[in-house]
Amino acid sequence: MKQSELAGKVVYQIYVKSFQDSNGDGIGDLPGVTSRLDYLAGLGVDYLWLTPIYPSPQRDNGYDVADYRAINPQYGTMQDFETLCAEAKKRGIGIMLDMVFNHTSTDHQWFQKAIAGDKTYQDYYIWRDGVPGAPPTNWESKFGGSAWQWEEHVGKYYLHLFDVTQADLNWENPAVRREVCDILHFWRGKGVDAFRFDVVNLISKPDVFEDDDRGDGRRFYTDGPRIHQYLKELHAQGFGDAVTVGEMSSTSLDNCVRYTNPDEGELSMVFSFHHLKTDYKNGDKWQLEPNRFGELKALLDKWQLGMQAGGGWNAVFWCNHDQPRPVSRFGDEGRYREVSAKMLATAIHMLRGTPYIYQGEELGMTNAHFTRLDQYRDVESTNRYHILKEQGVPEEEIFRILGARSRDNGRTPMQWTAGPNGGFTTGTPWLAVNENTAAINAAACLADPDSVLYYYKKLVALRKQYPVIQVGEYAPLMTGSPDVYAYTRTLGGETLVVVCNFCARPAAVTLPALPGSPERLIGSWDEQPYAPSMTLRPYEAAVYRFAAQG
Ligand code: GLC
Ligand code: CA
Repeated sequence: MKQSELAGKVVYQIYVKSFQDSNGDGIGDLPGVTSRLDYLAGLGVDYLWLTPIYPSPQRDNGYDVADYRAINPQYGTMQDFETLCAEAKKRGIGIMLDMVFNHTSTDHQWFQKAIAGDKTYQDYYIWRDGVPGAPPTNWESKFGGSAWQWEEHVGKYYLHLFDVTQADLNWENPAVRREVCDILHFWRGKGVDAFRFDVVNLISKPDVFEDDDRGDGRRFYTDGPRIHQYLKELHAQGFGDAVTVGEMSSTSLDNCVRYTNPDEGELSMVFSFHHLKTDYKNGDKWQLEPNRFGELKALLDKWQLGMQAGGGWNAVFWCNHDQPRPVSRFGDEGRYREVSAKMLATAIHMLRGTPYIYQGEELGMTNAHFTRLDQYRDVESTNRYHILKEQGVPEEEIFRILGARSRDNGRTPMQWTAGPNGGFTTGTPWLAVNENTAAINAAACLADPDSVLYYYKKLVALRKQYPVIQVGEYAPLMTGSPDVYAYTRTLGGETLVVVCNFCARPAAVTLPALPGSPERLIGSWDEQPYAPSMTLRPYEAAVYRFAAQG
């Protein structure tokens, strides 16, 4: 799909396990998604990204795939999937599947054959010699501990950049690359229009594996030596004209330009995460620090300008199933929850790129604030609990950290109603529903014309209405301001001025004096007229449009 076409689209992410349960087993499923298609069509979104729905032991909630060509019975049947695709299509909505090809579950038959001694399948994975207790390199798994696991049947170590049950695939092997292409064709044949590629910039490993004396090993395999070749190959043979988005872990701007500039023939767009690390201390997610707003703004500007200059294309977003809820993180969970949710939405949806909405974001859902280990489900969080405990971090502090950083904050079930379990299930939910579903839920939002939900709906509609939002030139404003993020978008003689106050106090702004009197397209507070010097209210966002002159 051409960038200019992509620019008018909006993607909605569904964490299937937590979206809607249809049969009372406490687990969201495909018929549940189908039953909510009218709600999603009402929002105006173009694609539904479904997190992995394949058979899986669920160590990492489906990112540990045991069979790439089937549906996990917990989520339904292939028939249910086909029904979902067809019903979505009727509403003008495409399906984006999540493709996890950096690794498979160790339950996958390829891995099982490998450990049973089949050399062909051993070559599908990455093995190194060693002796038990002395891994080949000091690389660390992203979920804690060594990235190597001793496998006694093979008498070697295998690499796992994530959980020990997620064995990294050997992309050097052309047979692996062929398998990947075949799988993509299989799903294209089922009517899938788009793919999200999980941690895809980690697939190309270095020729020599060596200790990392200044990190966890990521500098050796991130945006690795043959990554562009592999993506070009896939693009050429694998997925043709499907929309594709790559999840890029710890990537660089230069690489992302190459991944997405259409002349390169690799991907449609990318997720990068630098702007979601400005509240990490020394890059460590598990050390709390107040958000460094200046750095956040500088990163947004850098990626907007850099991708624009290089002809690349960003996926733009605040959250997903791996991130805490944005109102809890960058906004205000209390008094200003709704205005701050609207402000954050404005900041993202007026950018150059394709916006992603993560389920519940459009309701202004908040973090879960669990206080006990048995409330957590995520393998990253439970591993981290034990690591922090071993480091002597007091229990209370551990829960403060998990309360702010755990991926389960973004995974609690969708809050549909004020009723039991928020209308997510009639059974016992696999992960507790946030208690604030009594106040924050889709039914309440649908009944209130001023709700966060209708605000999102309007943002989506504005993108479709105004080409300046889709393809206008981005330029930063007020780069030195400690509270306000602002920018312009320009197309022909038309200019949008976007202002967002990220603070709970009023903020004075200095804006360009442009000819004509602008129309205010949307805002998180009541309308106030545009003026080159004006004062924004707490968490106020507003978008002003100066029409083309003459
Ligand atoms: C991606 C997914 C995350 C998963 C990891 C390993 O980052 O978004 O949920 O744990 O890859 O597959
Ligand atoms: Ca179910």
